[in-house]
Amino acid sequence: MTLVPGTVRPRRLRTTPALRRLVSEVRVHPADLILPMFVKETLNEPAPLDSMPGVVQHTLDSLLDAAREAVEAGVGGLMLFGIPEHKDDDGSQADDPEGILNRALTLLRDDLGDSTVIMADLCLDEFTSHGHCGVLDAHGGVDNDATLDRYASMALAQAQAGAQVLGLSGMMDGQVAACREALDLEGFTDVVVMAYSAKYASAFFGPFREAVDSELQGDRKTYQQDPANGREAMRELELDLAEGADVVMVKPGTPYLDVLAEVACESPVPVWAYQVSGEYAMVEFAAAAGAIDRERAIEESLIGFKRAGADAILTYWATEVAQGLKGGA
Ligand code: PBG
Repeated sequence: MTLVPGTVRPRRLRTTPALRRLVSEVRVHPADLILPMFVKETLNEPAPLDSMPGVVQHTLDSLLDAAREAVEAGVGGLMLFGIPEHKDDDGSQADDPEGILNRALTLLRDDLGDSTVIMADLCLDEFTSHGHCGVLDAHGGVDNDATLDRYASMALAQAQAGAQVLGLSGMMDGQVAACREALDLEGFTDVVVMAYSAKYASAFFGPFREAVDSELQGDRKTYQQDPANGREAMRELELDLAEGADVVMVKPGTPYLDVLAEVACESPVPVWAYQVSGEYAMVEFAAAAGAIDRERAIEESLIGFKRAGADAILTYWATEVAQGLKGGA
């Protein structure tokens, strides 16, 4: 077929950077980005992570500095993960007001007030000696309902410490209802519950295991979703909404953009997505090897999340990207 002059020419809208910018369907704003941060009890200095070049485990002091820098850059929020000195079967440091995560939450909330949104990962895996996201039964399996009691107690400790959003990442059945009820009974009706609704048993969490000094042997396949199942994500979404989730999440991001798109179509509440440690590491290592352009790959990956329907994105690049956007890039 030959083109008749004056007929449809999609390239017309791609001719200049200004025109391309004008017609772009989605864009990333600093406030769409949430920075995950690790704070570790035993450190005197920040500790770089081999599997995540550019990411560190923080001391309380360096955490505060990095949090202020992120807020200055305009990021939408901060998600904290704590690594305690002592891990045990029940993850007792998780709901101890003096536990490292809860101390860090108070430190940030006292310093930053309402200038950003302080969030806490609500899960036991960073705190348990066996590395599972819940407590174990007599046979070594993860005991769903006993774990719910631990999560409810964590929810209260984190709310008391100043967290405004609780990120329920454990994939136990009934976890949203259990935490919501505990919070409301104690008057924390304004604390937001963000449910990791569709969280898959993923190889892309690999570097995170180093980041939280995980003790896990085996896998999480009895509680996290099977990567093959997309429809099941919609069932998890429905349950979390019924239990009162204020925000829902899909995780990991890139291999599950179809799930994200479907959840974004159906969800009446905000939908967030997590660009996880393995997604970060892939880009950093490929760029370090000279195989891809780092900045372009980061930008393109975030655009993909927005196009699929994410309202906000948890990404380890949050501060850097927000700074670049602020600079008028
Ligand atoms: C559980 C939790 C995990 C991540 C966030 N919350 C690990 C897991 O489920 O195995 C992974 C985040 C990442 O890989 O960046 N507390």
